[in-house]
Amino acid sequence: MSTSAPASATHGFAPNLAAAHGAIAEPRIVAPSLGYITGPGAAATAGSPSVSDDSSADAPPLSGSVEFREVGIRFGSGAAAVQAVRGINLSIRAGEFVSILGPSGCGKSTLIGALAGFTAPSEGSLFVDGQRVTRPGSDRGVVFQYHNLFPWKTVAGNVEFGLKMRGVGRPERQAVTAEILQRVGLAEFARHYPAQLSGGMQQRVSLARVLVNRPRLLLMDEPFSALDAQCRLLMQELLLELWREFRTTVVFVTHDIDEAIFLADRVILVSPRPGRITGELPVTLPRPRTAEAVTTAEFLSLKRTCFGHLRG
Ligand SMILES: Nc1ncnc2c1ncn2[C@@H]1O[C@H](COP(=O)(O)OP(=O)(O)OP(=O)(O)O)[C@@H](O)[C@H]1O
Ligand SMILES: [Mg+2]
Repeated sequence: MSTSAPASATHGFAPNLAAAHGAIAEPRIVAPSLGYITGPGAAATAGSPSVSDDSSADAPPLSGSVEFREVGIRFGSGAAAVQAVRGINLSIRAGEFVSILGPSGCGKSTLIGALAGFTAPSEGSLFVDGQRVTRPGSDRGVVFQYHNLFPWKTVAGNVEFGLKMRGVGRPERQAVTAEILQRVGLAEFARHYPAQLSGGMQQRVSLARVLVNRPRLLLMDEPFSALDAQCRLLMQELLLELWREFRTTVVFVTHDIDEAIFLADRVILVSPRPGRITGELPVTLPRPRTAEAVTTAEFLSLKRTCFGHLRG
């Protein structure tokens, strides 16, 4: 599978999404050449540096910058208290793809939960596009290891649910849903139910359901770790394509070194609990990336560095 085409120019997806989002009156910026929109908060970050190899000079400014300032998160109190993470300082640029890599229990999901607005920091503060995170919102979409689709709704019903909740009219909802299902390769499965799909297909629906809201932050918590190696690679390539098209910031949690490097602009290394950032590794592998990237000397060198760091 190739990731070379800037598919926003080749798929009819973006203009219809723009129409749907116009209906819900979210702030947006339109790039006339692509009819492309950014998610909420775009205007707030005009001029933010992009780190992706964006091929379109007319592309709109990106949103989705993140800043953790001395964030600590503790669960429970007294003798039963668990300090999950401590002293987290991390800046993520709008449009950046960051992997968070660390051992089980080091607080990776806790960091995702904080960004999603599910868990408030016990210490320090957390900002997205300069705004303090206080609650969940559709501008920050989460894809988990196991899908949390509504089992009683069809694939299309699941994908369009968020738009329906936000008052988007039926014709627009259906058009946008059909386009994104086409984009993730599930057009023929729109009327199926989640239980009738493979694990990889369920994760495609999960991605579609989140992306349909044009999130400024895509939060992924080991989304492919239950998939077999072949399917996982296809999903990784699909994700990179979608990241290019949607121009969103991605925070991707994994404990798989290959996956972390293959996907990201930067790998953030986290210590065992209480999780602290112990290092970061810029990934300068050229984009677009395909499966062959993992066999290059540069990739193996990055992997060695990662291993060394994680072993201390
Ligand atoms: N809701 C909660 N209540 C109490 N403790 C929690 C809660 N959520 C997480 N923890 C604790 O915080 C620590 C970090 O958990 P977290 O799930 O963030 O780790 P993780 O890095 O995602 O691990 P894994 O790789 O196994 O998914 C663990 O010790 C866990 O028990
Ligand atoms: Mg976890």
